[in-house]
Order: sequence, then structure tokens, then C-alpha cells
Amino acid sequence: MPSAVITGTGMCVPERVVTNAELERLVDTSDAWIRTRTGIRERRLVAPGEQASTDLAEGAARQALAAAGVPAQALDLIVVATCTPDYPAMPAVAPLLAGRLGAERAGGFDLSLACTGFVAALATVQAFVRSGAASTALVVGVDVMSSIIDWSDRSTCVIFADGAGAAVVRASPAGDALAGGEVLHASLGMQGNETALVVPAGGSRRPLGAGDAALLARGDNRLRMAGQQTFRFAVTTMAAEIERAARAVGVSPAEFALVVPHQVNERIIAAAIERLGYPRERVVIDIDRWGNTCGGSVPIALDEAVRGGRVQPGDLVCLVAFGAGLSWGSAVLRWR
Ligand code: COA
Repeated sequence: MPSAVITGTGMCVPERVVTNAELERLVDTSDAWIRTRTGIRERRLVAPGEQASTDLAEGAARQALAAAGVPAQALDLIVVATCTPDYPAMPAVAPLLAGRLGAERAGGFDLSLACTGFVAALATVQAFVRSGAASTALVVGVDVMSSIIDWSDRSTCVIFADGAGAAVVRASPAGDALAGGEVLHASLGMQGNETALVVPAGGSRRPLGAGDAALLARGDNRLRMAGQQTFRFAVTTMAAEIERAARAVGVSPAEFALVVPHQVNERIIAAAIERLGYPRERVVIDIDRWGNTCGGSVPIALDEAVRGGRVQPGDLVCLVAFGAGLSWGSAVLRWR
């Protein structure tokens, strides 16, 4: 059975920097509150209507393909994790992205699992590659969260942001040690919950139509979050998933050279890491610059770690994510 190896990564964020000071002018908040409660100093947001998920996905994908030295025409699978596609129901981002890249041989689809999306997409692609159903795949995590944020809700508008990350995953036949991050393990979990993180209207449970002005004015077509419920879930889940990932590959969490967590909130990451007694300097934290980019969060952090020389041959790297659903997942990569 071939192994699945990440041979190139990339990322793309909008150019527009939005500081905490700018949000102070929008809602009753402060730079000090945002920094101490979330760890975020600034984030990137698209100029409304000017860029959609496919645009950011394309930027990240082009970087990942260049890093892997793979032409788009070689791709046979594209999986895009997003909960903010360009269009509400169809078409999906994956075919639009294939068109942009000229990936004529690729099949693919979108996968919707909010902040867990990239890890779920990686788990899916790993299974395709190991089974022989695909040999050169592109995995993208992207969200334009600004398109579903209620800009009058201070508990969410300071947290979420826009961004995309991508990885090229190639089949490496047994005995052929393709350089990169071999996906040793990937697993997922979930538990139905319709209150912690939900966009109440605009889907099949509550379609929107003419006459819904009051509902729209209330922002029911925007993200609603039960902050404290999400906080407790995130801390417990992140710690448990890192332990589960370590057990799956027969090591202790301390043997992970690097942990790449979903950039949910610096306090959540710090609390989970403290529970495990894992050294904080071996955790990738970039939420200060990018905010919580949902599907983009893990692949952006991974790309920064790779380009920053934080992963070396022999390293075990743990990716961990969790979010709406509720859902969670982890993956272990061995660098080689
Ligand atoms: N600026 C100032 N005050 C704010 C605020 C903001 N941006 N957002 C919330 N507050 C207020 C609350 O209204 C509350 O005021 P009150 O006491 O008068 O009611 C107070 O701060 C404390 O709220 P609380 O929810 O207890 O704060 P917290 O320390 O839990 O932090 C979050 C709030 C949202 C930052 C935190 O709950 C959190 O990060 N949750 C997880 C959310 C998340 O990451 N979701 C993504 C999952 S993928």
C-alpha cells in the first residue's frame, strides 16, 4: 500500500489588515480585551464582495503546487474544506478551483465541517491515496468568515477572519521515501449540537425568502456562537485528541516535535497544552496575526511551520482541530 505524503504547502490571506482598534469603532470592545481574551492583534478580511473562497483557495493552491513542484495538470483529486463557499448551495468551490488552476484530470468535491474541515479533508485524501484511488491530490482549507459574521456581535466579530491554506498530497510507493510529511494517522469524531456554533437561517431547516426582513435584521443568517460552551468543549477536546493521536501511533504526546492546533483562541490552546504538560514553545500559534480563519487555520499554521523551518526530518507533527458540529479530528505526520 502506498503512503500519503504532504510534499508542499501554501497559504493565502487577503491584503486588508484589520486591527483591533478598527473593531473598537464597530462594536463595544477594546484592543486590550481582544488581546487578553483571544490572543488576536489583527486579522485579514476581504473587502466585502471582492474576494470569495475560490480566490483565496487559488492563491494557497498555487503556492502549495509550486512548493511541491507539481503541475496542476498532474492532480487527480481536489478536496476543499469550507463552510463559506462562493455560492450558498452550488456550484462547489472544488470544481471552480480546478477550472482556475487548469486541473483538467482532477475529480473532487467540497467537504463541510467548519474548523475541523481541513483535518477531515486530509483524512479523506489519505484514504484515497493509500487505496490507490488517487495519486496526486490537493487539499485546501478555506473560509471567508467575514461573509457570515454578524458585525454587531462583539463575541464573534473579533475572533473570526478570512484565509486559506493548502497541501499537495502524493502517493509514495512502499520503499520510495518521497520527502515531506507522511500522514501516519488521521481520525475524526463528532456529536450533534445545533447551539454551540450555528448559522440559524438560510439552510433547508429555515430557508430564507421574501418576507424575512425581520429575521435578516436580527442577523439569523449569520454565525451564532455560545462562547463559553465552545470554550469548555474546545479545551477538553483539544487535549483528548492530542492524546488519542499519540496513542494511535504508539508514542506519548511529549514525543511530538510540534503540535499544529486549530487557531481557535490562544487561551484555549494554552489551557489544553497546560493540561497535557506539553511545552508551549513546540506549539504553532499564529492567531495573533491571522485570527481564527476556520477551515484555513490548520493549513495556514502548518505552512508557516514548514516555511519557518520548524519541521525537520524525523519529526512527528500532530495536527488537531475541532469546531461546529460539534466535530473534531487529528492527524499525525512524520517528516522525512
Ligand atoms: N469585547 C468586550 N467584551 C466582550 C467581548 C468583546 N469582544 N465579547 C464578549 N464580551 C463580554 C461579554 O459580553 C461578557 O460581558 P458580561 O459579563 O457583561 O455579560 C464578558 O465579556 C465576559 O464574557 P465571557 O463569554 O465570559 O468571556 P470569555 O472570557 O469566555 O471570552 C470568548 C469570550 C468568546 C472570547 C470565549 O468564550 C471564547 O473564546 N470562546 C470560544 C469561542 C471560539 O473560539 N469559537 C470558535 C470555535 S471553532
